[in-house]
Order: sequence, then structure tokens, then C-alpha cells
Amino acid sequence: MAAKKAPPARLRRPSGASARRPPGPDAPVDRPRAADAGSPSPARAPLRILVLSGPNLQLLGTREPEIYGVETLAAVHARLRARGRELGVQVTARQSNHEGTLCDWIGAARGKFDGLLLNGAAYTHTSLAIFDALKAVALPCVEVHLSNPEAREAYRHTSKLAAACVAKVSGFGADSYLLALDGLVRWLARRPR
Ligand code: DQA
Repeated sequence: MAAKKAPPARLRRPSGASARRPPGPDAPVDRPRAADAGSPSPARAPLRILVLSGPNLQLLGTREPEIYGVETLAAVHARLRARGRELGVQVTARQSNHEGTLCDWIGAARGKFDGLLLNGAAYTHTSLAIFDALKAVALPCVEVHLSNPEAREAYRHTSKLAAACVAKVSGFGADSYLLALDGLVRWLARRPR
């Protein structure tokens, strides 16, 4: 059997507090530490990404398909895991209808995951608790939406979570999750080591 190919070094997880520092706008990809110059890069574990979806997203496939499409959440999760394998990152995907459960998962993510994708669904527009959980763990999070909430009803125009996120991807249907995964992995590859 062929040996499993390790992900490229720049897509692997550094250790230490610097992993949580956001990059500046002009940070170069793959900037080496001075101490690393000329030495082989240290072995790094694969990046781990946690994907969370909020209330009613378990109904994807049948829920208002004209807005959210016909793909099920299980199929979206399978696509995310497959894309993760291509990128050499580990993807864990979960869904809950409960605000407290989402807070629990976010709160436990520090040290276990390197970044988050979060479709907070309706909690996007209401949840100070989820905003606080994101601020508390200080992991890079990308806000995800299948639809484009800003182009819908006024009560969907405000996100309580956006200010705790590094980016947002919305309006591409289920592909928003996939685009967000690519974006987050690129963001993580650019952070200072
Ligand atoms: C949603 C948009 C939210 O406004 C809505 O409450 C959802 C789904 C989206 O993915 O488009 O449940 O987050």
C-alpha cells in the first residue's frame, strides 16, 4: 500500500501562542522565522478545522430549496471532508439547533482546532453568547451563509458574529462552505510563525 502523503509544511499547524496572532494585511505567505532560515522546516501536524452549523440547517435539502438549495448537510459535510483531504487539513463538521451547544463546542475548540467555519443560521442575527464564545477562544473564524442575508429581510442584515470573525462568505449556496474552507486555510498559511 502506498504511504499516505503528508500535507505541505505551510498547511500544517505551528505550536505556541503565536498561532493565534492574526497576520497583518501585507504578511507574506510562508514567511520563515529568522531562526528557521537555512534549517529544514520542523515537522508540523495537519491543520484542524471545525465546521459548525446552527439551527434548522439539519433540514438542508428540503428547507426552502429555492433559497438554500437541494443539497443535504450530510452531503456538504462530505464535500468539506473531501476538500480537506485535498488540502491536507482535518475537517470536523457538526450541527446543532441549540445556542448553548454551539457555545460549548466553540469554547472547547481552543487547543483542539486551528480555526472555525461557522454558519450560525438565525443565531447570527441574535446571539451575543456565540459572539462572546468566539472572542473567548480567539480562534480565526469565517462566518458562512448559503444565502446572502444582506439581500434578504431587514432582520437578517445585521450579524452579531461578524465582528468576531476574520472573514465572511455568503450567497454561494452550499459552495459558501467550500470557499470558506479554502479561504481559511489560505489565511492560516499566511499567519506569522
Ligand atoms: C443562513 C441565513 C440566516 O439568516 C438564516 O436564519 C439561516 C441560514 C444562511 O446560511 O443563509 O438559517 O445562515
